[in-house]
Amino acid sequence: MIQRTLVLLKPDAVQRCFCGELIARFERVGLKIVGMKMVWVSAEQSKKHYSAHVKKDFYPGLEKFITQGPVVAMVLEGVDSVEVVRKLVGSTEPKTALPGTIRGDYAHVSLQHANEKGTVAANLIHASGNAEEAKYEVSLWFKPEELHSYKTVHDIQTILE
Ligand code: RTP
Ligand code: MG
Repeated sequence: MIQRTLVLLKPDAVQRCFCGELIARFERVGLKIVGMKMVWVSAEQSKKHYSAHVKKDFYPGLEKFITQGPVVAMVLEGVDSVEVVRKLVGSTEPKTALPGTIRGDYAHVSLQHANEKGTVAANLIHASGNAEEAKYEVSLWFKPEELHSYKTVHDIQTILE
């Protein structure tokens, strides 16, 4: 199934100047960028985006983290893109994220260490967790006119085959 999913390059990824490298990882598996922009997240947007976490103990640290600087927001389209993007991103905790995943390759901190410091583990990327979350998040971050339909070489190859 062709799906759309929301990805954020979080403030740590932007500040470490890894945007190009991280975007390249999604492009090279053939996912299509159908929307992209830089946004400095407000506290209000953070609460909407992380509505499932607002009441949790770590939320104040999460809000401080995600609002500290701009993020790059993207919508990626592809076959089962929600699942594929989560696979590329890796598990939430950098310490246990596997090598080869973005979080495993670019960070190492444990959730426990971050909690003790009163912050959240800087894990570079947000990716929608399931299809329902993706629908909500794409509409939260992008207006319909900011999303584009076009063909990449992958679509063209499919037509020729
Ligand atoms: P994200 O939403 O950012 O893509 O991350 P995720 O699905 O892998 O993890 P989620 O459970 O949705 O948590 C959102 C963010 O909150 C921080 N977190 N801290 N201290 C903790 O136990 C804890 N749990 C989650 C992480 O920064 C995570 O990315
Ligand atoms: Mg999540």
